[in-house]
Parts: sequence; C-alpha cells; structure tokens
Amino acid sequence: MKLLDGKKVAGALDEKMTLRVEDLKKKGITPSIAVILVGDSGASSVYVRNKRRRAEKLGMDFQLIHYKDDVSENELLAKIDELNNDKTVDGFIVQLPLPKSINEERVIQAIDSKKDVDGFAPDNVGNLWIGEPHTKPATAAGILMMLDYYDVDLDGKNVVIIGRSNIVGKPVAAMMLARNATVTIAHSHTKNLKELAKTADILVVAIGQAKFVTKDYVKDGAVVVDVGMDRDENDKLCGDVDFADVENTASMMTPVPGGVGPMTITALMDQVLELAEARAN
Ligand code: GUN
Repeated sequence: MKLLDGKKVAGALDEKMTLRVEDLKKKGITPSIAVILVGDSGASSVYVRNKRRRAEKLGMDFQLIHYKDDVSENELLAKIDELNNDKTVDGFIVQLPLPKSINEERVIQAIDSKKDVDGFAPDNVGNLWIGEPHTKPATAAGILMMLDYYDVDLDGKNVVIIGRSNIVGKPVAAMMLARNATVTIAHSHTKNLKELAKTADILVVAIGQAKFVTKDYVKDGAVVVDVGMDRDENDKLCGDVDFADVENTASMMTPVPGGVGPMTITALMDQVLELAEARAN
C-alpha cells in the first residue's frame, strides 16, 4: 500500500506557492486572507491555527477576527460587509460550524461570492456544478490536488463518496464528475452500504465517525481517501477509516493526521493566491 502523504505533497506545493507570493509582492501586492472564528471549540481553533501558520509561512497576510460564542448575528454580518468592501483582503472565510443561535445560511450568503474562498456561496456552488468554478471548496480541491500528484486517474473510474455534506461530499462529487468519474454519493440512509462501497475504485469517506470504514467496505486495490478527523477510544486522533484494518486491502490511502488536512490548507491558500493574482492583473 502506498501512503498518500498530504504533508509531503503540501510541502512540495508550498515551494511553488512561495514563489507566486514573491512575484506578487514585487508588483506591490501582498495576498491576504481573513478568517472569522466564533467561539473556542477545539477542532475549529486547531484548523484556524494551522491556516494562520501556513499563510504566514508562505508570506501572506493573515487576519483573524475572533468573536466570543455570544456574538450577535448582526455584528457578524456587519464585519462581513466590512470585509466584502476591504480592497486589501483578497478572500475570507467564516469557520464553520457556527453557534446554533446564528443562522449559518444567512451568514454564508452575506459573503461576497468574489471573495468566498471557501466556495460555499450559492452562485459559487452553482458555477462549480456547471463546470465553470470561480472558487472551489478547499477540502475537495485539496483531495484532487493530492490524487493528481500521485497520478491517480479519475477518468471512467467508479467513485463512491460516503457523506453528502456541502463542505465535502457534494463538492467532491461535482469535481470528480467534471473529471469524468462515475460518482455515487452514499449517506446514512443508503442501503447495502458495504456492497456499494466495495464497487469503488476510489472511496472517499467524510462522515465524522471514528474508524467506521473497515476492510469489508473496500475493494482489493482501491484508493481510499479519509476526510475524517475524529478521536478513538483512547482519545487519539484518527479518521473515519480503520487504517490498520484497511491498509492491506487498499492500494493507496491517506493517513489521519497528515493526509487530507494539510491538502485542504494548500487548496485554500492556492485559492487566495488566484484571487490576488487576478487583482494584480
Ligand atoms: N469547518 C470544517 N471544514 C471547513 C471548511 O473547509 N471551511 C470552513 N469555513 N469551515 C470548516
């Protein structure tokens, strides 16, 4: 089994991105991303810290706007309006999930789709499905970047995605369909999930349940992409795939941590760079 080493690939791609940042700076432009974080929930704080580290490593501007859990929706919307109109910010994201008191949909829809580097705004989602994306959701884009790096061909392949979220499952489906894969999205109501998953040449798992996928779900020689970030019975970080159980069945698979996570950040920074390059031209 070959490890799909997201940390290594991200490192290799970072070198190219650093050069793009230097080119922009010569033209007087510093690529800039802002992140709105509400509250201090464990996973979100870690994700945001990792995004800051990477942006700073690449030489980009990173601005964190951190609110307490009890921030009002109006205050958030006012900040979004300000960022929409701030010409020095190329793109920004609102880290999800938001507290239940806030209408997530309304917040996402307030982001100017031109600056929506998450690709979550409705017109960006629509453009992605049409095949003419302006911005692409980072996790999905990062998965494709990694498969490309390892020369995993998608054309004509059977892809099964377990999980139908707007953040991962649906955009991965759109992007793989655009690359001529035959795509099935499975979810909690899917019948005979094991049998279906076993038809996959490429299995993408994004359900948020520790070690859910065992070798009974995996065809011999399949490529397995694990988007999970869970805790096992000993509180150790693990994915949605039971790595030890599957590693002798898959031909390639991602570890957790160090697989999809670093690639998500690479894809986000690439997206910000694209917008900054458009600003320069
Ligand atoms: N929470 C988990 N993944 C993501 C992501 O890609 N973007 C945002 N904004 N929040 C997330």
